[in-house]
Amino acid sequence: MAERTRMRSDRVVKIDRQALRSQGLLPPEHQERTLADQYRQIKRPLIANAIGRGGAEKLPRGQLIMVASAMPGEGKTFTSVNLALSLALEKDLSVLLIDADAPKPHLNRALGVAGEPGLLELLRDESLDPETLIIPTDVPTLAMLPIGTSSETTTELLASHRMEEIMKQLAGNNPRRIIVIDSPPLLLTSESRVLAEVAGQVVLVVRANCTPQQSVLDAISHLGEDKSIGLLLNQSTDAASAGYYYGYGDSKT
Ligand SMILES: Nc1ncnc2c1ncn2[C@@H]1O[C@H](COP(=O)(O)OP(=O)(O)O)[C@@H](O)[C@H]1O
Ligand SMILES: [Mg+2]
Repeated sequence: MAERTRMRSDRVVKIDRQALRSQGLLPPEHQERTLADQYRQIKRPLIANAIGRGGAEKLPRGQLIMVASAMPGEGKTFTSVNLALSLALEKDLSVLLIDADAPKPHLNRALGVAGEPGLLELLRDESLDPETLIIPTDVPTLAMLPIGTSSETTTELLASHRMEEIMKQLAGNNPRRIIVIDSPPLLLTSESRVLAEVAGQVVLVVRANCTPQQSVLDAISHLGEDKSIGLLLNQSTDAASAGYYYGYGDSKT
């Protein structure tokens, strides 16, 4: 694929499951199968909305999936990693995992790309081709874009119009690409708002028995109405309620 030839060729990110597990980004081994099944359920509607598979209609900007939450520590990075790996099992997709959480670039650290150029460099320099900073991984269907190097203007950069351009370009370059964006918390930061506008799909992670209902409602009110929003109840100890509740464009109900 054309975009594959433009991505970095000097670097490959190794997806080291053991290391990711020890950092808490993959489930403990005894929970692996249950979680894999849950992510299988979660990804179906996301894929249908993104690329129109199974006769479904493609949603506008549906290839851009923002993984969001009201507050930190609810499981955005965990969800981003597990969702991206589950999507990457689909041989006809090309998955791009983006670290867009500048205040807490957890993904960057976990994948060993701290200090590598990424999203912030693209935001600073309009002449850069976004494809050229994407790093392939040793999973052929998965690539990642680091956050890049922070500066005093990080917040402004993340909220700038250029963000929208970059995201649209990345989606437009390959109709079979699905972009999973690990983002900063909606209620603590303003920089996630542009992502919330540009993404066609949002997975809103809600930590079971922890996130107050009002915070969830406040977070939803920051998301535009023209998108699909799914709530993911994370870390529920009650197996029957652990799962996914899906809604389309009904963020105000
Ligand atoms: N489903 C889950 N199962 C086990 N541990 C989880 C799960 N979701 C999150 N965690 C743990 O909870 C903590 C917060 O998750 P994280 O993804 O870093 O949150 P966020 O990115 O929203 O700040 C991490 O230590 C992570 O390992
Ligand atoms: Mg995180």
